[in-house]
Amino acid sequence: MNHKIAVIYQSYYDTTKQYAKWISKELGADLIERNMVLLSTLNKYDLVIYGGGLYVGGIIGVDLFSKSSVSRFVIFTVGLADPKDTDYAKAMTKSFPNQSNQPLQSFHFRGGIDYSKLSFMHRNLMKLLGKMVAKKPLPELTSENKAILETYGKRVNFTDKSSIEPLVSFVKEVLK
Ligand SMILES: Cc1cc2nc3c(=O)[nH]c(=O)nc-3n(C[C@H](O)[C@H](O)[C@H](O)COP(=O)(O)O)c2cc1C
Repeated sequence: MNHKIAVIYQSYYDTTKQYAKWISKELGADLIERNMVLLSTLNKYDLVIYGGGLYVGGIIGVDLFSKSSVSRFVIFTVGLADPKDTDYAKAMTKSFPNQSNQPLQSFHFRGGIDYSKLSFMHRNLMKLLGKMVAKKPLPELTSENKAILETYGKRVNFTDKSSIEPLVSFVKEVLK
């Protein structure tokens, strides 16, 4: 492909970074950490792919799109829940409330968690979330709730390179 693509990511514990690396390699794209992005350089790209971890129902780092004039972008999220039975509508609306600035498409991948590596703040947040979820009646548990309960206190890694295929195909089709 002769197009210039940037894969930008924000990740606390490297699972989003892992997906960003796989995607950038597959597409021959530049790989840039969100905090290292020079907004003025983004207009040289034909397409921006942004990946952010899911934290408390939102995608981290998406302020990039309110601070820049990037209008052609694809989003991927990385969270704990299994994308097969997770509804991302709320997270997408929370992260992209502006109707005139929406991604071309969004993709959702499964990350992981290692409680021994969580920051003090994140550990406490998960404790709080875990307590709230544990009080819910079973039929009301969402896929995200279940993922929190099932993995609480553990180290799990669900990252899967093959899951990037639909995103890679979509981008190739868009830039054809
Ligand atoms: C404080 C906290 C809040 C989280 N909130 C969510 C969430 O709302 N939805 C979800 O699917 N995963 C949630 N997770 C799990 C992360 O999205 C998951 O660990 C992901 O792989 C992290 O990406 P990273 O390694 O790139 O930071 C949360 C994790 C922490 C520590």
